[in-house]
Amino acid sequence: MKNEKLLNLFEEYLLCNLPLSKTFHPIFQDALQDMLKAGGKRFRPMLLLCVVESVNPLLLKNALPIALAIEFLHTYSLIHDDLPAMDNADLRRGHPTLHKSFDEVTAILVGDALNTHSFNLIANAPLSSDVKIELIKALSSDGGIDGMIIGQAIDCYFENQKLELEKLEFLHIHKTAKLIASSLKMGGIIVGLPSETIEKLYNFGIDIGLLFQIQDDIIDETATSEEAGKTTSNDGAKNSFVNLLGLDGAIKSADSLALKCEESINSFDTNLQTNLLEILSKYLYRHKK
Ligand code: IPE
Ligand code: IPE
Ligand code: MG
Ligand code: MG
Ligand code: MG
Repeated sequence: MKNEKLLNLFEEYLLCNLPLSKTFHPIFQDALQDMLKAGGKRFRPMLLLCVVESVNPLLLKNALPIALAIEFLHTYSLIHDDLPAMDNADLRRGHPTLHKSFDEVTAILVGDALNTHSFNLIANAPLSSDVKIELIKALSSDGGIDGMIIGQAIDCYFENQKLELEKLEFLHIHKTAKLIASSLKMGGIIVGLPSETIEKLYNFGIDIGLLFQIQDDIIDETATSEEAGKTTSNDGAKNSFVNLLGLDGAIKSADSLALKCEESINSFDTNLQTNLLEILSKYLYRHKK
């Protein structure tokens, strides 16, 4: 299936399955859906669906709630990331951030809701209980204290304190790469790939995720907020790759990681190779655009 079709399938599913909170609260329902409707690249759900489609397209329908769960968890991480206590950003996905459109309490609680609801989506998905337990293990670990959360904690705690390269990589692998790697892994779990292939996909995802964050740091330095659709020039105090390596150094390191990723793609089965390449071609060198 062409990339665009896969994305349309996901967007359609998302629109039909937006989280609901129909109570007398005057704004919570709108706030809950605001950032999901605002768009975004849907990079993580696309990676998951790409693996499923490559191995067993008949399972695509059953995989949609899982792809949505990852997008919910990711969107929650962005809403919290933008809060004044964290990165204090005003613009996200081309819209005012949630705490700007509504208020801080609402943004915190919408984030909480999307986080817990992602696990509800997995629990209710039309997949076997064994598969769902494995999916919950992966998402809770890579999106939680062994992944995104500890990464965000380190990212914020060490503002204005330069980390050495090894710790910088630890930070970014946890903050960003693990959830991206998990998206590929969860696709592999759904279609029942052998554990060695899942591990290979996960390790590949770590490289792709790290590349994605280096590029994100480059975007913060080089793009306007309008171009990026989010607040940029916001990493002054951060252990970003640009701050540690300089812009040229960050670009060089993105180049070599992109090359490594291209080589790794060749080691997957033909179907997966073709589909991964199709999705990743616009990302591998996005730092050059
Ligand atoms: C932004 O993620 C945060 C990072 C982990 C770099 P994305 O660049 O995937 O944001 P959206 O989902 O497209 O808005
Ligand atoms: C955030 O990284 C990663 C998350 C876990 C949300 P950034 O703080 O660099 O993401 P942006 O640049 O605000 O999207
Ligand atoms: Mg941040
Ligand atoms: Mg941020
Ligand atoms: Mg950033």
